[in-house]
Amino acid sequence: MLEATALSFRHTPESPWLFRDVDLVLTPGEIVGLYGPSGSGKTTLARIVSGYLRPASGQVGIDGLPPMPNGFSKIQLLFQHPELAINPRWKIRKVLCEGYRPGPRRLAAFEIAPRWLERYPCELSGGQLSRICLVRALGPAVRYLIADEITTMLDALTQARIWKSLLQYSEENRIGILVISHDTALLKRLCHRTIRFPGWQADG
Ligand SMILES: Nc1ncnc2c1ncn2[C@@H]1O[C@H](COP(=O)(O)OP(=O)(O)OP(=O)(O)O)[C@@H](O)[C@H]1O
Ligand SMILES: [Mg+2]
Repeated sequence: MLEATALSFRHTPESPWLFRDVDLVLTPGEIVGLYGPSGSGKTTLARIVSGYLRPASGQVGIDGLPPMPNGFSKIQLLFQHPELAINPRWKIRKVLCEGYRPGPRRLAAFEIAPRWLERYPCELSGGQLSRICLVRALGPAVRYLIADEITTMLDALTQARIWKSLLQYSEENRIGILVISHDTALLKRLCHRTIRFPGWQADG
């Protein structure tokens, strides 16, 4: 289980609280939606939960242990812009196999064409790169995924196909997913439950 308890955060000891006493639970196989105003701290929360940022107070436990942001982490954080998360000088095959070696069935499940592997990142579309980043993130150790606006830039059909692959993967492997999005209709379709992020310091 992913369990965050009483998380509070502010950027400096002098600045106002971005959020206080936030609790979050994500169980294996559960799909949870998170929405709330722009600037309320959803991405900040995602970075804390995955271990990239320390909270001012509160705790995060990933199956009982603190999050560790490295290749062997049980939790992976994915962002909206896949092109910023990969080395533009590497061919896709190298990008994809950075942490583990995904097999042909995994590639097929996420609709990745074998011919893409010989290309460079700038030779793929945004939706194609999103699939590459997803599969790259879904290493054998990963139990939880935080998807921060990962399909926001994509057309509705591509978005739907990527989520179909991901939900199936989650169901088969009991992966818990926190889906952060402004698209509440999308969250309603995908998620078992949805949380409104309690932000009150939003400055846009
Ligand atoms: N280094 C920083 N110093 C001060 N404030 C910052 C810093 N980095 C981010 N912020 C502010 O922290 C707040 C929370 O940002 P965050 O990205 O977590 O919001 P969000 O809920 O993800 O918004 P969106 O829905 O637009 O993605 C924003 O108001 C942002 O301007
Ligand atoms: Mg954000």
